[in-house]
Amino acid sequence: MASLYRGLLLLLMALLPSAHGAAARARSKISAAFMFGDSTVDPGNNNDRLTEAKANFPPYGQDFPGGVATGRFSNGKVPGDMLVSRLGIKELLPPYLRNDLPLSELLTGVVFASGGSGYDPLTSIPSTATSSTGQLELFLEYKERLRALVGEEEMTRVISKGIYFTVMGANDLANNYFTIPLRRHQYDLPSYVKFLVSSAVNFTTILNEMGAKKIAIIGIAPIGCCPSQRALGSRECEPMRNQAANLFNSEIEKEIQRLDAEQNVRGSKFIYLDIYYNLLDLIQRPGFYGFKEVTEGCCGSTVLNAAIFIKNHPACPNAYDFIFWDIFHPTEKAYNIVVDKLFQQTMQYLM
Ligand SMILES: *[C@@H]1O[C@H](CO)[C@@H](O)[C@H](O)[C@H]1NC(C)=O
Repeated sequence: MASLYRGLLLLLMALLPSAHGAAARARSKISAAFMFGDSTVDPGNNNDRLTEAKANFPPYGQDFPGGVATGRFSNGKVPGDMLVSRLGIKELLPPYLRNDLPLSELLTGVVFASGGSGYDPLTSIPSTATSSTGQLELFLEYKERLRALVGEEEMTRVISKGIYFTVMGANDLANNYFTIPLRRHQYDLPSYVKFLVSSAVNFTTILNEMGAKKIAIIGIAPIGCCPSQRALGSRECEPMRNQAANLFNSEIEKEIQRLDAEQNVRGSKFIYLDIYYNLLDLIQRPGFYGFKEVTEGCCGSTVLNAAIFIKNHPACPNAYDFIFWDIFHPTEKAYNIVVDKLFQQTMQYLM
C-alpha cells in the first residue's frame, strides 16, 4: 500500500508542474496587438485626412483580399496584419480611426500609426500626419473608450497583456532632415540622430507608463536603398541615409537594452527588432528570395515622394518580382519575408 501511495504521489508531483506550466502559458498568451508609427504600418488612419500621405486608391491594395485599397501603403497586407495573424489573434490589424470598429476589434488591437509621421514633431507637419505624441493621445482616448465599454479591470487586462510595436524614424531622416533645411541648420547629423533616439526613448517610456508592458521598437530600414532615395543620385543605395539609419539603430538598440534591464523587475519587457539588415538581405540577395527587381518600385518611379502621384496609374503586372511596391514601401511579399525573419530571430522574448 505504501508503495502505491508513493507511486500516486510521484505521479501527482510529475503532473502538477506541467499542469501549472500549461495554465501559465494560457495566461500569458497574447490576445491584443497595438501598433504606432508611419506609413509602413498605417492601414488607413489617414483616409479621411487632407494629406498626400494616403493610399486608399488603386493601384494600392490590388492583391489585398477583395482587391480593395484600404489605405495600406502596399499591394496587399502590411506588417501589422502579418504579426497578428502569426500570433493567432486575427487576420487583419485595423486602423483605430475607422469609424465602424466593433468591440471585438477594440479588444484585440488596433493601429495608431499615421503615414508621414516620425519621432520629430516637425516631421508630421508638412504631411499633416498624426505626430508620435498625437498617436499617444489617441491611445489614451482608446483606453477611455475601452474603459467605458468593458470596465476598468478588463481594460487594464487588455492593455497590460497586449503587445506593442513602434515603427518610426524613416520620415525623420528621408523627408525631414535630408529634405527640409531647418533641422540641418540646427543639428549636424550625429546630433540629430541623438535627438531622434532621445525622442524614441521618451515615446517608449510614456507608452510604458500608460500601461504597455511588452514593447518592441523596430529600427529604421535601409532607406538609402528605397527607389525614391536611389533616384536622388546614382542608382546605388544612397550611403548617407543608410549610415544615418544605422547610427540611429545602433544607439536605440543600446537604449532599449538599458530600458529592459531597468524595467524588467517591474514586469515590463522591451525589445529592439532589426529591420535594417533583414531588409538589406533581400536587397543584396534578391535571387535567393525570388525577386527580380531591386531598384525600381512596381508602381514606377517619380521624383516626388508621395503616394498620391501614382493615383490610379497601373502597377507592374508582376509585383511578385519586386521588393518595392512604390518608391518607398515594400511589397507584401517582401514584408512577409521580413516579418518571418523577425519571428524566427527575436520575437520569442516578448511571448
Ligand atoms: C526626453 O525626456 C527628457 C526627460 O524628460 C528630456 O530632458 C528630453 O529633452 C526629452 N527629449 C526630447 C528629444 O524631447
